[in-house]
Amino acid sequence: MGMIYIPVFILLFLICFCKSDDRLTPTKPLSPGDRLISSGGIFTLGFFSPTNSATNSYIGIWYNNIPQRTYVWVANRDSPITGSSSGKFLVTNSSDLALLDSKGSTLWTTTNKITTIEAAGTAAILLDTGNLVIRLPNGTDIWQSFYYPTDTVLPNMTAPLSSKNEGYKHLVAWRGPDDPSTGDYSMGSDSTSVLQVFIWNGTRPYWRRAAWTGALVNAVYRSNTGTIIFQTIERRGAEFYVTYTVSNGSPSMRVMLHYTGKVKFLTWNSESLSWDVFLEQPNTNCDRYDSCGPFGYCDGTEAIPTCKCLDGFESDGLNFSRGCRRKKELKCDGTDSFITLPGMKTTSFCTSGIEASTNAQQNAAATAHAPLMHMPT
Ligand SMILES: *[C@@H]1O[C@H](CO)[C@@H](O)[C@H](O)[C@H]1NC(C)=O
Ligand SMILES: *[C@@H]1O[C@H](CO)[C@@H](O)[C@H](O)[C@H]1NC(C)=O
Ligand SMILES: *[C@@H]1O[C@H](CO)[C@@H](O)[C@H](O)[C@H]1NC(C)=O
Ligand SMILES: *[C@@H]1O[C@H](CO)[C@@H](O)[C@H](O)[C@H]1NC(C)=O
Repeated sequence: MGMIYIPVFILLFLICFCKSDDRLTPTKPLSPGDRLISSGGIFTLGFFSPTNSATNSYIGIWYNNIPQRTYVWVANRDSPITGSSSGKFLVTNSSDLALLDSKGSTLWTTTNKITTIEAAGTAAILLDTGNLVIRLPNGTDIWQSFYYPTDTVLPNMTAPLSSKNEGYKHLVAWRGPDDPSTGDYSMGSDSTSVLQVFIWNGTRPYWRRAAWTGALVNAVYRSNTGTIIFQTIERRGAEFYVTYTVSNGSPSMRVMLHYTGKVKFLTWNSESLSWDVFLEQPNTNCDRYDSCGPFGYCDGTEAIPTCKCLDGFESDGLNFSRGCRRKKELKCDGTDSFITLPGMKTTSFCTSGIEASTNAQQNAAATAHAPLMHMPT
């Protein structure tokens, strides 16, 4: 008979230690072991350590309904709670979110600094989209984690394509598979232009997406399992924004900058219980920015992508690290000429071209969801 009571005990224990609500208020901080769960049970926010043996811990957001732990956002990636210290995540009286260590030092904070009588009714809410928002009692969101992504873009998250936007941060990859600190690879739009997305390795370009032109406003990506991702580019004033959405009932989907520098489009496969990669860039050496050096080009039509020299040029050395050099000096006597190089992706895109396509884009705004299978790269 005594055995009947044991499960009841365990149940009570779980209830006591797993506060699960979708919000924090100034009077209700989050302690290690506590979790926020979005109202529909899609996402969880809590303290985590990347591996069981790791001593560092972080505040992060992950999927609540996916068995393979997958982090989509980390608050304090470069200021972990270390050693035996324990943290407290709270909404302050100035309408900010803050992470304090056990000595009361601030490890991470937002900087709204809105001290009004309203602050008492302010809450930080984890939404079913995976967005963590700070909401004033009148319903205004004064901060959202979607504006400060870590390495992941989620459906319905709108990312600016131009870098003039205040507060916009690039995606920055984790340093390693179990290390969420700021890695070397980052992804975002180039500061000198709009509509041109780069992955950088440190400060060096590593990959460049083809610039958007007036003809490509929106796109549809289709995985071989049938998942469809819609990419919508929207103009608001002088700025462009991109949003990925999935149709209702689709499996979970995310776009992330992997610690190896590749951007991956992933969907959750509920049969194999793993993430399927259905698009990955750069996926061959040809995709890498300037992969063959000056006056060289990468021929992706070969079975194995190969570096070659443009006509009139020869390899400058044994490998292509220094590119190609002219076989003969230019004569400049009227016998030199230009040749057309079709199907090439150049290393950079001239700014006047972007202005032109920007205008074209406005005119083409009515072309909704042009059925393109892949982004041109
Ligand atoms: C907020 O203000 C109240 C009243 O002044 C105070 O008791 C409380 O400790 C403050 N909370 C925080 C998190 O600073
Ligand atoms: C994205 O937003 C649309 C429209 O607001 C909504 O219907 C849809 O459920 C949202 N998708 C996700 C994954 O949150
Ligand atoms: C909500 O309150 C904030 C702070 O008092 C104010 O700045 C904002 O305009 C208000 N929003 C609405 C919709 O009333
Ligand atoms: C990224 O840059 C580092 C330092 O310059 C270099 O060692 C590394 O090979 C680069 N990674 C790739 C994939 O090119």
